[in-house]
Amino acid sequence: MAIGSFNGPTLESARAAVEAAQELGVPLILQHAPAHDPYISLELAGKIMLALAEQATVPVCVHLDHGDSLETVMRAIRTGYTSVMYDASGKPFEQNLQETRKIVRMAHAVNVSVEAELGNLPHNFHGEMTDENPEAFYTNPEDARRFVKETGVDALAIAFGTVHGVYKAKPKLSFDVIRRVREATGGLPLVMHGGSGLSDEDYRTAIACGIRKINYYTYEALAGGRGIYQAVADHPQGLYFHDAAMAATAAMREDVLRILRIFSGGGQ
Ligand code: 13P
Repeated sequence: MAIGSFNGPTLESARAAVEAAQELGVPLILQHAPAHDPYISLELAGKIMLALAEQATVPVCVHLDHGDSLETVMRAIRTGYTSVMYDASGKPFEQNLQETRKIVRMAHAVNVSVEAELGNLPHNFHGEMTDENPEAFYTNPEDARRFVKETGVDALAIAFGTVHGVYKAKPKLSFDVIRRVREATGGLPLVMHGGSGLSDEDYRTAIACGIRKINYYTYEALAGGRGIYQAVADHPQGLYFHDAAMAATAAMREDVLRILRIFSGGGQ
């Protein structure tokens, strides 16, 4: 199975994910990415996610997604995040390795685990998508071997053809990249970013090849938006915002339920 990792830039999206995980009895990761700072600060998102995690009936980790600097990682650890991603994948390999090694030493000293990224996803949350040639960004298994050995990371995000955001075209996935990186890194948990919008079959194959954490948000957020459209259409006389928020939560919970069934080996 793979653990689903869901961004929580709103209370509704985080609650929807926790409710779905509880319904299925599966563990969950809630995460905040600096790209969502305009919607909610790292500190406030962290406190909300930690409160939800404490109350949850299933294990819930609170994770920093795409930490972009030592300062961001420190703020997350101080807030109580239980794991951090340090993403220097846009930097030269040696620099990524050296900086990640430093973060790992620091985070492990306070019992916080670290995800890093090698290879590159040709997109960020709000930028233009450039997924025409994802092969150019695939993770190199030999680089991954050295990177993991010398940094001591706990999980590695790899590039094998997924992209963040909405897929403009059918993704060109290389499951062979997952297999080869897994073998080169001694079975280290591998992470899929850009994990929403794939076919059920692609998820199952990626998990069978070694993906153990799947980052998922864009298609959940779109489901929430559809929930609001529907609520507006159902209430032509006017709609309270709290009812719109409830409609969005319900729609996102359904989307997360469907995907968590697949991630945990069911839903066939
Ligand atoms: P999606 O944009 O495919 O939902 O991916 C989210 C993600 O990878 C966050 O790091």
